Amino acid sequence: MSIPLVPSETLPKIELLSEIARLKKEKNAVILAHYYQDSEIQDLADFVGDSLDLSRKAAATDADVIVFCGVRFMAEVAKILSPDKKVVLPDMDAGCSLEESCPPDEFGKFRAKYPDHICLTYINCSAAVKAQSDIIVTSSNAEYILNQLPQNQKIMMAPDRHLGAYLSKKTGREMVFWPGSCIVHERFSEKELIKLKTEHPEAPVTAHPECPEHILRHADHVGSTSSILKFVLENPAEKFLVATEPGILHQMQKNAPDKTFIGAPGADGNCNCNQCPYMALNTLEKLYNCLNTLGPEIEVDEITRIKALAPLNKMLEMSPAQVPTAAKSGRAF
Ligand code: 13P
Ligand code: SF4
Repeated sequence: MSIPLVPSETLPKIELLSEIARLKKEKNAVILAHYYQDSEIQDLADFVGDSLDLSRKAAATDADVIVFCGVRFMAEVAKILSPDKKVVLPDMDAGCSLEESCPPDEFGKFRAKYPDHICLTYINCSAAVKAQSDIIVTSSNAEYILNQLPQNQKIMMAPDRHLGAYLSKKTGREMVFWPGSCIVHERFSEKELIKLKTEHPEAPVTAHPECPEHILRHADHVGSTSSILKFVLENPAEKFLVATEPGILHQMQKNAPDKTFIGAPGADGNCNCNQCPYMALNTLEKLYNCLNTLGPEIEVDEITRIKALAPLNKMLEMSPAQVPTAAKSGRAF
């Protein structure tokens, strides 16, 4: 039976939550959410994780509908891996600055300049860029995959130059980089971070590899969102400075309520400016509407999908076995 569209703004919060739960069951939908989503969305998701965790979940689900609470490239990956599922995204404008920095035509010309280089492409890009790549990587498997390539293999990496520079330094491999970056991770201020470290000398610093080198050099740990979460939960320290999007702090506070987590500051000393504006477009109301109407729906044309599937499958084959670092139904396991 189809449900009449109720304007979500007329529903009180509690009803909105129960309507979302009811629609999810009725439509046999699964809600996948990234750690940068609003805490209320993380709490009602069936699974919360990083890009690699979410790709694996999308490939394995037996739900009819995948409601992707994240950004568009993540939902596109779900569609590429699960073409028979309906994949919906609460707000189709939820893009990514890395994706925007790498237009497919320009990327094609860049690739053509280095015909003897293997192209490792960060998952934060469009399906059309994936379709022109050799292997897709995420921040949690890039180093592991890179280490499987023969030493004499020439490498190019797109679109995040900071992740590329970090990997090149860590593995000692030379690479050609596409000059893209994440607007969120670029905003952290080294001066403010040093000030914060001086105020909290006992607190280890954990950072995402999308941060520039001047932030990463102050980090005790560098990793994907899942890896950052694992680090703070397992490390005996009681206080941490966290240089990534502040949405991740929700899982930290929830899973380690006795520890203190301080978001790394931007240039004005305030970490709120480091919220991802694309992730923030998804709201509970839009999630409700999305489940109700089963739209906006992600579409990837079949030729692009088949071409993008090959480097994504290569990534899944070359990734380490799954490690239990993500949070499920709002709880770490
Ligand atoms: P993770 O794969 O580490 O979750 O990163 C995704 C992302 O967009 C970071 O900005
Ligand atoms: Fe893209 Fe940066 Fe937002 Fe991640 S945090 S989705 S890389 S803009």
